[in-house]
Amino acid sequence: MSFSVAPILSSFLYIIAANGSDLRPTDLDVPMVCEKCHTGHSSSANRQHLARIACQTCHIPTFAKDALDSQASEATETHRSWLSNQSVAAPFHPTSTKANDLVPRYRFWSGFSSNYLLGDVAAVDSITGNYPTSRPEGSVADGLSKLYPFKYKTAEQPLALLSGELIALDTSLFFATADAYAATRQGLANMGQGANDPYEWVMTDTFQALNHEVSPAGEALQCADCHGSTTRMDLKGELGYQLKGSTATVCTQCHGREEVKPFYEVHSKHVEDKGYDCSWCHSFSRPERGLRMP
Ligand code: HEC
Ligand code: HEC
Ligand code: HEC
Ligand code: HEC
Ligand code: HEC
Repeated sequence: MSFSVAPILSSFLYIIAANGSDLRPTDLDVPMVCEKCHTGHSSSANRQHLARIACQTCHIPTFAKDALDSQASEATETHRSWLSNQSVAAPFHPTSTKANDLVPRYRFWSGFSSNYLLGDVAAVDSITGNYPTSRPEGSVADGLSKLYPFKYKTAEQPLALLSGELIALDTSLFFATADAYAATRQGLANMGQGANDPYEWVMTDTFQALNHEVSPAGEALQCADCHGSTTRMDLKGELGYQLKGSTATVCTQCHGREEVKPFYEVHSKHVEDKGYDCSWCHSFSRPERGLRMP
């Protein structure tokens, strides 16, 4: 690992330029990424991963770590409900559920994101079952994205049934009264809709980029954290690494029906040894690796 930190530290001492998936404006016109200071990687097994896995994925194994140096809790909000409040006097705040030492959710991210805007018609995300307020865009197949870690957070929010829009409830009314129903009706009126229009409470969710709290190098993710287990991430499920069809069709393109060996053996034979591109067996390709295309 080599470093070139001095010039960067001196010019950007006060502001670190970056953008998130839900907080999109950048502070400066230079991207402040890990590679600004760190280049290369000492472990050869990891080198083949760097093209598609962000540094943060392996180096931020947990977030909202509870530091041991004080009594204070570094818990982060994981859920917010406007249907109750946790203050004894005004200003009333919605109930906030917090937790420590959380495992991220993982998504491919191209650096672009889709955020809910006031007036958009809300639509349920079939994977999470909730209404998205922010989503990283990207996929295993698009050639731009890398796998990133995200904080996942949910909230209960009102949805206007006639317009299908999420209601921006009137927070000043809520802070003064803790009356979520009145704040919702006022929110409808603020949006130019009927204050007595029907609405319901729905669950929304958001993905927030994780860039802070890099752990000591010895805590970086190991092979088994990602391969051969779905406890942390589901590579062959939502992340897109399943076969593109049944083994009866995929595996008989080149030879007769063979036994399906474990992941490492299949790739060692077909990718490393025979040089076949991923697209023979998966629905994505890795053109940068100069493998044999179908
Ligand atoms: C696939 C997981 C993985 C990815 C992706 C990854 N690392 Fe690492 N990194 C590790 C592991 C594991 C170690 C522990 C030592 C080792 O095996 O090299 C490590 C060690 C390090 C170290 C300690 C010094 C050293 O070289 O041992 C630094 C600094 C580092 N990584 C920075 C980065 C940066 C910057 C990126 C993105 C360009 C990155 N890593 C991407 C897994 C990863
Ligand atoms: C502004 C420069 C800078 C940036 C940006 C930066 N680092 Fe570092 N990083 C450093 C320096 C300096 C060290 C300490 C090197 C040392 O002690 O030898 C370090 C140390 C590390 C270590 C080793 C920790 C250990 O156990 O010793 C890891 C891992 C690491 N950085 C990963 C990252 C990742 C991942 C990112 C992006 C999220 C990142 N760094 C962004 C400057 C930077
Ligand atoms: C952060 C999760 C993560 C960790 C840690 C990790 N991998 Fe991977 N690995 C992946 C992903 C994702 C891919 C697919 C990369 C791509 O899309 O190009 C992959 C691809 C592979 C492949 C596929 C073949 C190829 O040529 O690309 C092999 C083999 C592999 N990893 C072995 C390992 C080994 C060995 C380790 C430990 C030294 C390891 N991986 C650590 C996530 C991980
Ligand atoms: C000859 C067919 C074949 C090719 C070519 C191939 N794969 Fe796979 N891959 C598989 C099979 C089979 C599995 C599922 C193994 C299992 O179910 O255990 C798999 C699973 C994976 C997984 C998930 C591993 C896990 O830990 O669950 C990753 C990541 C992966 N492949 C990456 C790649 C990449 C990157 C390439 C191209 C560089 C590639 N594969 C090329 C057959 C292939
Ligand atoms: C793109 C062509 C291609 C595809 C697709 C393919 N294979 Fe192969 N496979 C080969 C070749 C070439 C060999 C090596 C034959 C030899 O060395 O004689 C091989 C060898 C094997 C072997 C023997 C491995 C060994 O370790 O000696 C097994 C098992 C196997 N394949 C299983 C599969 C499975 C399971 C699939 C589907 C996931 C698959 N193959 C898809 C081309 C392919």
